Amino acid sequence: MSISNETLASLVRPDGVHKSVYTDPEIFELEMKRIYGQAWIYVGHESQVKNPGDYHTTRLGDQDVVMVRASNGQIHVVYNRCPHKGAKVVPEGDGTTGKFFRCPYHAWTFKLDGTHLSAPLKNGLQNTCFDATHPEFSMRKLARVSVYRGFVFASQAADGSDLKSFLNGVTSSIDNLCDRSPLGEVEVAGGVFRVLQRSNWKVFYENLHDTMHAPVTHESSVVSARSQAEQLNSLPFELLIMEGNGEPYEFWEKLALRAYENGHGYMEGIFDPNAAERDPVSSAHFASLTEAYGVERSREILGMNRHNTVIYGSGSPHTVFQQFRVIRPLSVDRTLVEIQLFKLRGAPDAVFERAMTYANVINSPSSNVMPDDVEVYARCQEGNLTNGGDWVSMHRYAGTDVVVEDGMVSINGTSELPMRNQFVAWKRFMLNATDAAKGTE
Ligand code: FES
Ligand SMILES: [Fe+2]
Repeated sequence: MSISNETLASLVRPDGVHKSVYTDPEIFELEMKRIYGQAWIYVGHESQVKNPGDYHTTRLGDQDVVMVRASNGQIHVVYNRCPHKGAKVVPEGDGTTGKFFRCPYHAWTFKLDGTHLSAPLKNGLQNTCFDATHPEFSMRKLARVSVYRGFVFASQAADGSDLKSFLNGVTSSIDNLCDRSPLGEVEVAGGVFRVLQRSNWKVFYENLHDTMHAPVTHESSVVSARSQAEQLNSLPFELLIMEGNGEPYEFWEKLALRAYENGHGYMEGIFDPNAAERDPVSSAHFASLTEAYGVERSREILGMNRHNTVIYGSGSPHTVFQQFRVIRPLSVDRTLVEIQLFKLRGAPDAVFERAMTYANVINSPSSNVMPDDVEVYARCQEGNLTNGGDWVSMHRYAGTDVVVEDGMVSINGTSELPMRNQFVAWKRFMLNATDAAKGTE
């Protein structure tokens, strides 16, 4: 690879980045090794593989992997590659493979942890170097797998911090998502929405806390939301964000932006607590929680007013409307977003229905809001390919962010702190990596 660390370092300034970080295929390839090959990346939720033999496929950066439940209940994550001729062993999606994996090409089989089980017509392999116990003849496991409250992450690097330290402050978002269930457990339900974006993966992460774009990019959906609200007298709680996007800048300036090491963070204060109190679904939800946790703790759980948490490299969980937008980079200018929805075990059905409405109307491929964003991301991608300048600005409130014990906090909700913080992590990953990700044997 020809890009030196010196060049990489020069692409990130404290208040901006060079446009090539979004457009250069060589940089993208390096990111796959140095970020996606090192960091803990979300693979899926354990409820997607409820029974032994159940699997879920996904991609960690440019790697096809399979999450599978073994007969002892353990969850394994293996590369989706047969060691014979390299065929992908299981097709994309979710399914059940039974007691073992069987390759569709020549029927080599593997245990659910990937180890070699058998190959047909053994006599052809006798008197050769073939050794069923040698790792070369097994599907390889990812170096590390760790589960946080049912959320399964994997790292392709054998060494590094443990999952909890890597996630640091954003574990509180996963906690809150689970705590919203009276049983403290969630499960993926209702299928996934997929959005293909014609833009670099990092643009989406930056947008998640970009408060300055809301009234501008979403102007058309704000106008239609307001006319709907007039006809209905008011919008239901789950759709308020649609007209809320049109709030004046003063509203956005009051929000709190929190940034943590490794590029993570969240935005707080966006949902109107009075609107939540008026919402019948929230009241029923609150009642179901009080039985489990008591009034005070239930208030605290539902009172966590958090929007768009960023888990850098993995995606964005949403606590209030129970979803995880999984962000998958496909190429330097293509990104796939999969929206998983979660059911809160033990909560009223209406809470899940509300989450579905939110996903449908706010961020599904046919929603009223998300296409606005997808359009401007594509415009950034195209604009950054022109010769009209080399730098992308992240100056807003630069130098004013406050360092706190475990990260940083903005003095102003329109600060571009989250983007700057993401690029601090990006630079560290890109400069410190060893390109060592190969998986265990
Ligand atoms: S490629 Fe898998 S058995 Fe031949
Ligand atoms: Fe947006």
